[in-house]
Amino acid sequence: MTILVTGGLGYIGSHTVVELLQNNFQVIIVDDMSNSEKFILDNIEKIGGKRPVFFPFDLRRKELLSQVFDAYEIDGCIHFAAYKAVGESQEKPLDYYENNLFSLINVLQEFKARNISNFIFSSSCTVYGQADKQPIDENTLLKMPESSYGKTKQMGEEILKDYAIAYQKKVSLLRYFNPIGSHPTALLGELPIGVPNNLVPYVTQTASGIREKLSIWGNDYETPDGTAVRDYIYVVDLAKAHVKALQKLMNEKSETLIDVYNLGTGKGSSVLEVVEAFETANEVKVPYQICERRAGDITIAYANPDKAERELGWKADTSLEEALRTTWEWQKYLQTKN
Ligand code: UFG
Repeated sequence: MTILVTGGLGYIGSHTVVELLQNNFQVIIVDDMSNSEKFILDNIEKIGGKRPVFFPFDLRRKELLSQVFDAYEIDGCIHFAAYKAVGESQEKPLDYYENNLFSLINVLQEFKARNISNFIFSSSCTVYGQADKQPIDENTLLKMPESSYGKTKQMGEEILKDYAIAYQKKVSLLRYFNPIGSHPTALLGELPIGVPNNLVPYVTQTASGIREKLSIWGNDYETPDGTAVRDYIYVVDLAKAHVKALQKLMNEKSETLIDVYNLGTGKGSSVLEVVEAFETANEVKVPYQICERRAGDITIAYANPDKAERELGWKADTSLEEALRTTWEWQKYLQTKN
């Protein structure tokens, strides 16, 4: 089976490509390199034992995309390619809508024209906004996300639902909670551009001295220690869920299918707990200061991942500390490269 992985050199994409290769899928990557580097492809090959076919272009270039579909018989797609910085999306909403939605639609047009099914969409728990109750299951009411980035994820889901019904297609919408960590080989991980926005890359850079201290955005939330709570899921566990979701789509007899899964651990951790877990796991100090709340942040979000366990036979079982250990190994690897 040949799978197109858009954004396959990115953070979650690269880990998923490795899992696909290890499960004997052929992989074709299209990635515009806007948030990746070429050495990631070499490292995928080192881990996966095979070099995926790679095309460096932007999915808005329809003619190039068509040529890929002409050249290869594609059986399915895992679509990661998207801009993903929440803050930036507020400054450049049109760029986010254009890139994230047109890229998605262009791939779907090819799927429709060539009668291919099996499409997996990289969505986010941001589609729930601040949910009324925790943990969050798949039937939780969707609320309009605050950021334009989040809106592109919610709109992407709506596009896919309409597409699946109108053209009798199989789609799987995977709503990630907070992915963290790196590959156990330390050859793959997150490559934050500039100053990281996300917690774990910032913690990691602070521990290594690149940043002076972590700012904890608020300790007056209604949570046990006052800092905000999220569900941090190890990226390799997350990558494995994609393979399971894909296999389920492929084995499904019915023509039309819309699967939705929350991918998280089911456990919430506060910002302070993450900092402490990082310090314990890696025997390093993370200096921090408490600051005002960050605009747009929600208090708490963690998953009820039971549906994924029931239907996919998948469970995130890597501990927070273990995930944070891999992050630190990746940081050390990056420093040897610079
Ligand atoms: N945080 C800090 N200091 C930092 C960075 C983050 O205290 O320097 C806190 C945040 O305030 C938040 C928690 O750490 O409470 C996690 O923040 P992240 O930015 O790592 O993650 P978010 O939960 O804000 O955002 C993530 C994804 C988005 C997605 C969103 C959905 O990054 O893609 O979840 O809620 F849209």
